[in-house]
Amino acid sequence: MYTEEIILNLPKIEQHVHIVGSTRPETLLEILQEGDVQTDLQTLQDIYKFYQYTDFDHFLSVYRKVSDSITEEKFYQTITYQMLQRNAECNVKHVEAIWSPKDHLRNGLDYDKMLDYINRGIRQAKQKHDITCTIRIDLVRNYGPETANQTLDLIQRNHQNVKAIDIGGSEKPNPPEPYKQVYRRAKELGLHLCAHAGEAAGSEYIWEAINALDVERIGHGTSAVDDPRLLKVIAERGIGIEACPVSNLRTGVIKSLREHPIRSFINHGIKVSVNSDDPPMFNTDMNNEYVSLHRELGFTPQELFNISLNSIQTSYLSSNEKQNLTQSFHKEYEILTQK
Ligand code: HPA
Ligand code: ZN
Repeated sequence: MYTEEIILNLPKIEQHVHIVGSTRPETLLEILQEGDVQTDLQTLQDIYKFYQYTDFDHFLSVYRKVSDSITEEKFYQTITYQMLQRNAECNVKHVEAIWSPKDHLRNGLDYDKMLDYINRGIRQAKQKHDITCTIRIDLVRNYGPETANQTLDLIQRNHQNVKAIDIGGSEKPNPPEPYKQVYRRAKELGLHLCAHAGEAAGSEYIWEAINALDVERIGHGTSAVDDPRLLKVIAERGIGIEACPVSNLRTGVIKSLREHPIRSFINHGIKVSVNSDDPPMFNTDMNNEYVSLHRELGFTPQELFNISLNSIQTSYLSSNEKQNLTQSFHKEYEILTQK
C-alpha cells in the first residue's frame, strides 16, 4: 500500500469537533430554506465564500450565524448524523463531539429536545456505520460564569450521553479563572473537564485552565509552545492537547502548517490528538488532518498511528473500552502495514 493510502485507512479517534461547525454547505442551504430564515446565502458558492475568514474573530462571527440558522431542534439530528457519517468515511471509530446549548437557548430552542435529536443522530450513525459518539458541552465563555452555572443546572437534570464540559467561544476577553467554581461543581457531578485555551490567547490562559480549572485536556493549546516550563507541566501531569492544525491555519493562528507546534508537543512527551474542529467550515476532515501532517510536517504512518493510540488513552472512554479499542487498532494497523 502507498503511504498515503495507509494514512487514510488508519483507525482514528476524534476528540474535538463542534456539531454546529460540522454543518455541510448543502445542509446549511436546506435548513435556511426550511426554517424560512432571511439570508443572503442562496447558493453553494455563497457558502464557500462565507466559510473563509480574515481572522479568529471573523470565524467566530460566521460560526454564530451558522448557529443561529438552527431554528428547529430537529435539525440537530441531521447535522450530528452527517458529521459522524463523514468521520466514519475517514475510519474514525469514536468521536467526542462538542455542543453549545446556550447559543440556541437564547433563541428559544429547548435543551431536552436538542439533546434528544443529537442522541438520535448518534444512534443512527452507530447503526449504519458502527461509530460511537459521546457529547461534551461547551458552556461558551462569552456568556459569563453565571450563565455557565445555569447551563450546568440543565446538564445536572438531563445528561444523556454527556461526558464533559468545555469553555469555547471568544477567548481573549474571557480568561478561564472566573469559571473555577463552575468547573469544581462539574467535577463533583462526575463530568470530565476540558477547556479551549491558548488558541487565540497566550500561554498564561493555559496555565489558568490547568491551575484554576484542573482540566484533563486542552483544546488547541497552540501558544504553549512559547513556554517550555508549561510544556513540561502538561507532559508531567498527562494532560492531553487536542491539536486542530487546519483550523489554526484557516483562522490565522498560524501562517502555514509547517509552523504548527504539534511536533514540539510530542517531543516534550505530551499526549496529542489530531482533530478537525469545524470540518466543512475549514474545508477539512480527519483524513485531511492526518495527510496534511504527513505532507507538511513529515509525519510517518507509525507516528500518526501513535497519535491514534494516544487519543484512545486521553479519551473519555472506560478503561475496558480503551483496552478493547487499542487491541482492535493494533490489529487493523498490522493488516494495513502487511499489504
Ligand atoms: N474556538 C473557540 N470556539 C469555537 C471554536 C474554536 O475553535 N469552534 C467553534 N467554536
Ligand atoms: Zn473548537
